[in-house]
Amino acid sequence: MTMDAIRQRYLMCRPTYFAVDYAINPWMDPTTPVDTDLAVRQWERLRRTYLDLGHEVELIEPLPGLPDMVFAANGGTVIDGTAMAVQFRDPQRTDEAPAYRAWFEAAGFTVADPKHVNEGEGDLLLAGDHLLAGTGFRTAHAAHAQVQEVFGYPVVTLHLVDPRFYHLDTALTVLDEQTVAYLPEAFSPGSRAVLRRLFPDAVHATMADAEVLGLNAVSDGRHVVLPAQAVDLAATLRDRGYRTIGVDLSELRRAGGGPKCCTLRLRQGRADT
Ligand code: ARG
Repeated sequence: MTMDAIRQRYLMCRPTYFAVDYAINPWMDPTTPVDTDLAVRQWERLRRTYLDLGHEVELIEPLPGLPDMVFAANGGTVIDGTAMAVQFRDPQRTDEAPAYRAWFEAAGFTVADPKHVNEGEGDLLLAGDHLLAGTGFRTAHAAHAQVQEVFGYPVVTLHLVDPRFYHLDTALTVLDEQTVAYLPEAFSPGSRAVLRRLFPDAVHATMADAEVLGLNAVSDGRHVVLPAQAVDLAATLRDRGYRTIGVDLSELRRAGGGPKCCTLRLRQGRADT
């Protein structure tokens, strides 16, 4: 197990215009208004947590009319200095894609354009030398072949089967190069078998953890930032030697997002995988 923290560079988007006025996943209920100020305060705490851990946080300007733009993980996939732009499934989020794309270009990344529905790190998670790729709800299966071609990492397709865990990052979290934590029930039988084969030492999360989006966590290899409500998962991770840091993102969870959704990892190259 790698227990060294790796200094990370993240992209985040302040939830200035956060709202739940449409429903594109089962967590979203547009009939009860959200407290945008609370969402901003919770998000600020998350950002502060990363800075206190010594990570770097870049910011993209939020745009009015795009309430889900706070979920920066869906803005792209960035590996070895190449940023793959995204294509959203839902029209409500379509206009986020060019905004993130422009940010990558201005920041000096090589940009690749998607040919299929591709919701970025929401569904594409690098685990060591494998690019784990979710499909079933958002990112199209056809996108997996394209990301393999763009990044040159073997892509492992994983089928998601529970609509509450619609993005891979709601069902699985990468803890370090060798280890992941996941909710077995969120995957098809074949995908579960693949995960067992690739990660025999994986942490299996409970449904109670997953239902508070506990798997929507961010690890630097040593510290794991996860929803404060995911108490069982936090205890298991501590037993495994990780340091856990609970953050309360309850207001953003009302849109179906947690810490990882708010955080896009910017990877320059192999030196800072
Ligand atoms: N409301 C957003 C959606 O349904 C939440 C996105 C969460 N992001 C994530 N990486 N899981 O698209």
